[in-house]
Amino acid sequence: MHDVLVIGAGLAGMRAAIEAHDAGANVGVISKLHPTRSHSGAAEGGINAALGNSAEDSPEKHAFDTVKGSDYIGDQDAIEIFTAEAPGDIFQLEHWGAVFSRNDAGKLAQRPFGAAGSPRTVYAADITGHVLIQVLYEQLQKRMVLGADRMKVYEEFFAWKLVINNGRCTGVVCWDLVRGGLQLITGKSVILATGGAGRIFRTTTNAYACTGDGMAMALRAGLPLKDMEFMQFHPTTLYPSGILLTEGCRGEGAYLINNDGERFMAKYAPNAMELASRDVVSRSETTEIEEGRGDKGCVFLDLRHLGAEKILTRLPGSRELAMTYAGVDPIYEPVPIRPGAHYHMGGVDCDNDGKTGIDGLYAAGEVACVSVHGSNRLGGNSLMETIVFGRRSGRHAAEWALSSAGNGGSAPASALTDAEREIKALLAVNEGERPWQIRQDIGSSMLENFGVFRRGEKMDAQLVILEELRERLNRGVLIEDKGSVFNTDLTSRIELGYVLDLAQCMVQAGTARKESRGAHSRPYDYPTRDDDNFMKHSISRWNHEQDAPELSTKDVRVTKWEPMERKY
Ligand code: FUM
Repeated sequence: MHDVLVIGAGLAGMRAAIEAHDAGANVGVISKLHPTRSHSGAAEGGINAALGNSAEDSPEKHAFDTVKGSDYIGDQDAIEIFTAEAPGDIFQLEHWGAVFSRNDAGKLAQRPFGAAGSPRTVYAADITGHVLIQVLYEQLQKRMVLGADRMKVYEEFFAWKLVINNGRCTGVVCWDLVRGGLQLITGKSVILATGGAGRIFRTTTNAYACTGDGMAMALRAGLPLKDMEFMQFHPTTLYPSGILLTEGCRGEGAYLINNDGERFMAKYAPNAMELASRDVVSRSETTEIEEGRGDKGCVFLDLRHLGAEKILTRLPGSRELAMTYAGVDPIYEPVPIRPGAHYHMGGVDCDNDGKTGIDGLYAAGEVACVSVHGSNRLGGNSLMETIVFGRRSGRHAAEWALSSAGNGGSAPASALTDAEREIKALLAVNEGERPWQIRQDIGSSMLENFGVFRRGEKMDAQLVILEELRERLNRGVLIEDKGSVFNTDLTSRIELGYVLDLAQCMVQAGTARKESRGAHSRPYDYPTRDDDNFMKHSISRWNHEQDAPELSTKDVRVTKWEPMERKY
């Protein structure tokens, strides 16, 4: 049994594993991908910390911007911890070898990002996530080689079911993707760090792996999920692929223009313009498109005035993506973009150390909802969240596992035999729909009925659609591949269940939130924020008898910022 078992090897998972190891724990890390292929590597524009290298700044200012950006349902104590600890974590990453870009004075460069009162986004050109994932993987490797055998990575293991024994999490049942077969891997404490669930939507910046596995496993194990209705749509995703074009483009000065060449943000956010918060910019773009001032469902990101040198030095990755996937060179032409599902503000309800409501179980990164982001995350805050809360959860999980409280946990063998029976039943289905058919219908209908703007009647219709999709799933889904090696047919069937559970939680919570707040915008029936009735977190639990989610609420933690009107 490991002391600490980390599920997921993106930035939050690796940071948690490193910290747990350094706290003296024997650590296991499970990942359905090779760690450096994790979706954190796709983060581009940067990571926020109030270093004050470009203009005067402070953790307090960073905290206020984050609270305001969250539309006042981020938990303020968590946000204050987050912004106070961020600078130290940046220096540690730099000392570990992160090659951040530098300014003319030789300090870490910081670019402006949306809704930030000061330029505070530290970056490595426009491949920041990629750089950080390499740095953390090196640190993981170092501990594997030099760490007295206390770090083991289970690469390409698909985590399927959390093992809860006597109210305590003691491991996970996994499918070994390379060799086939189920395995029970145990830990005195377990950290979920499986990332987000953008693949619930048809167009998304998220990798194929982002199917909400950890959230869904936690939900089925009895844990509450928090604020599931808040899915962030990133304003600049490439048409038609949905690939991210970083907010760093706008941070460096790029314009958003409509089909008439007008910088339309002047109408919606005259002060912040293109650097308003993401919810505001995505709504503005969608309005332009819906009112006929777009082109084939898009508006444009115009970088031409930045000049070739700036584009080539600060945004080389974005230029390559635009050329490869949209056939457009941003040095010479505006790039067609539209909002796409990007980041899920909701997730597993946990405290500021990642501790959940089940003993021994922690969560960190996008799978978790601490909540730092409330109803709208600021760009650059998620990379920082993975590091701050990955570290905190790793430390806490290790200390708990190594204390007397962590002793004595065990995982019953029936966890494995039950799971084996279930896999056999899934593979025994010989007719029916293919998993992708139902997945496709979830993705398209969620985009249509639960996108940037939400309407009561469309959300009601989506709840019915999701129930019908569940009936189709329950009728049996055909897994054609009956083999063991890299059976992606089997894993996509399991992921389909995850995605459907989470979509139901999201829409149920969205229907009940009769206001507009952050990424949840209901301009047609509830156009304003209603703090009296809805300044609350939504809490979703799974009702196993009804095989459906159940909703309640939880108070928001306020330290010093009372809600105010948000203007950008
Ligand atoms: O636009 C971006 O580079 C994305 C950053 C983020 O989501 O934090």
